[in-house]
Amino acid sequence: MTAGKRILGAAIGALLMSSVSAYAETVKVGIIGPFSGPFALQGKNFQAGVEAYMALNGKSVKGHDVEVIYRDLPAANPAQSRALAQELVVKEKVQYLGGVYFTPDAMAITPLLAQANTPLVIFNAATSAIMNTSPLVVRTSFTTAQTTTPLGKVAVDEGVKKVISVVSDYGPGIDAENAFKKAFEAAGGQVVEAIRMPMNTTDFSPIMQRVRDSGAAGVFAFLPSGPPTLGFVKAFNETGLKKAGIKFYAPGDLTQESDLPALGEAAEGLKTSFHYAVAHDSPENKKFVEAATKAIGSADQLSFPAVGAYDGMHVIYKMIEATDGKQDAKKAVDAVKGLSWTSPRGPVRIEPETRHITQNIYLREVAKGADGKYFNKEIQTFPDQKDPGLATQ
Ligand code: PHB
Repeated sequence: MTAGKRILGAAIGALLMSSVSAYAETVKVGIIGPFSGPFALQGKNFQAGVEAYMALNGKSVKGHDVEVIYRDLPAANPAQSRALAQELVVKEKVQYLGGVYFTPDAMAITPLLAQANTPLVIFNAATSAIMNTSPLVVRTSFTTAQTTTPLGKVAVDEGVKKVISVVSDYGPGIDAENAFKKAFEAAGGQVVEAIRMPMNTTDFSPIMQRVRDSGAAGVFAFLPSGPPTLGFVKAFNETGLKKAGIKFYAPGDLTQESDLPALGEAAEGLKTSFHYAVAHDSPENKKFVEAATKAIGSADQLSFPAVGAYDGMHVIYKMIEATDGKQDAKKAVDAVKGLSWTSPRGPVRIEPETRHITQNIYLREVAKGADGKYFNKEIQTFPDQKDPGLATQ
């Protein structure tokens, strides 16, 4: 080989290398969630959703390897949330942030996004107003206003005219209280009393006494899924309110599938409205449940945060594709505005104006399956629900 040919060969080699290596960068995704402590199962579901998505769709996008870095935030703690997001962006150089279980933690991250040139894809936090705090936030979960609104008419249609409302005293609880009241009163019902409980309430018997004393025919409730919901539903049963025929209305956070083995009969017959049931009957969900069960290790532990994470990864993959692995938060977010696909939960769309997910909301009832296990059985569909809690709609 002549010197000239060798130089040409080296030049072509370098060109080829550059077309691969300059663009085939590893894209890092930082996921914040409760991976330890009382809400660890919710974080475990984030991870199962992420792993299921990557198992079914590959670990690279357009030749860019995707590396996921997890950070543990055991309880709502805005200062720690902000510090973890900063560390992921500055030290780990993540191009995307995802996850976030609690609203206050999401609110602490959104002010950082513009300067960090980093989109945040929310897998859970469900207060409507989060979307107004940054143009770089996209949400693949739900809002409590969205899941709750259909319940108002359901209650009135069941002949329930007086309800007492009981919610956790923070963003998603207040949104749920307002959305239920609006829909229930528009249908002709009356909220006779509205109680807001501190987030760390663990003894629910005084609350159940107030429900009984109110004379209401039904109770509407929201608490964040995990130990609080388990405790609340147990208390509703143990204090005899369920047996007394007090009707129970709540979003599906209160009967998440992973709580059902512990609740057993206490949950049977409870009606909730939600965007996702593990028992949803579709080929997409079958595939998802199979992969997510494999990732989490036990079918009984699977719950809704897994589907928020699974669809969140879908959105992040689309962003990586649109930016060809380069860091451009605005371009990435613009690319998913209007994106629609068939999620394990049903048809969904990222609303371009709000960047929140439009989806079906299902009315479900806790039923006992042929295998003796309790599940959320979908009994009615409210199609194509936007977030009624956002002022822009
Ligand atoms: C929230 O903090 O936004 C949140 C947490 C748990 C839920 C729903 C909403 O089940």
